[in-house]
Amino acid sequence: MTAPTPLNYFKTAPDSLCVRNSAESDMPAIQGIYAHHVLTGLASFEETPPDTAELGQRRAVILRLGLPYLSAEIDGRVVGYSYASPYRPRPAYRHTIENSVYIAEGFAGRGIGKALLRELVARCETGPWRQMLAIIGDSGNAGSIGLHHSLDFRLIGTLRAVGFKHGRWLDTVLMQRELGAGGSRPPMPQA
Ligand SMILES: CC(C)(COP(=O)(O)OP(=O)(O)OC[C@H]1O[C@@H](n2cnc3c(N)ncnc32)[C@H](O)[C@@H]1OP(=O)(O)O)[C@@H](O)C(=O)NCCC(=O)NCCS
Repeated sequence: MTAPTPLNYFKTAPDSLCVRNSAESDMPAIQGIYAHHVLTGLASFEETPPDTAELGQRRAVILRLGLPYLSAEIDGRVVGYSYASPYRPRPAYRHTIENSVYIAEGFAGRGIGKALLRELVARCETGPWRQMLAIIGDSGNAGSIGLHHSLDFRLIGTLRAVGFKHGRWLDTVLMQRELGAGGSRPPMPQA
């Protein structure tokens, strides 16, 4: 059987899209997705793609903290991923997390990012976290800004020219969404 053309493949995507917990065996695909965006895009301020082992170690740290790391799969292929990570290390920030979402080349604009981020928010709302931040590389990143708007993240502001990549200065756009009770009630006491 010949491989489906991209068009045929997308026609089946909405039905066959599955967002699930990532597995260690997803990491080579995830490395490929991220490496593409590191090398060609401005969303990540990394300039050299980390290898699969390094990304596996980063994932292990996230899972040890009880945070979700999700994969999106279509017909057995990993086509995107999302995860939550601590915002800043000092302890008073412990109820605030940051999200990351990356979609494979050729699969953007099909609802995969929204499915991944919606599930990530839902998972994080079951934990002790009360605020989720998006720290978006490049103020021209309409895809990421649109994605976060579509899931009720508010625009907080823009840090101007804080990065320099691919020969130009880059802004970061901050967006924020409450999780659960947000800041309306104190957090649950720690066990
Ligand atoms: C940003 C990214 C994750 C979005 O994922 P996606 O699968 O393309 O987005 P979706 O198709 O799920 O779209 C989600 C929402 O964003 C909006 N959106 C997507 N691309 C958009 C664009 N280029 N301009 C404006 N809005 C856009 C959609 O309209 C949709 O909103 P709706 O449901 O209200 O119609 C993806 O394009 C990507 O991997 N980009 C490169 C890496 C990156 O920027 N990651 C984010 C790091 S903060």
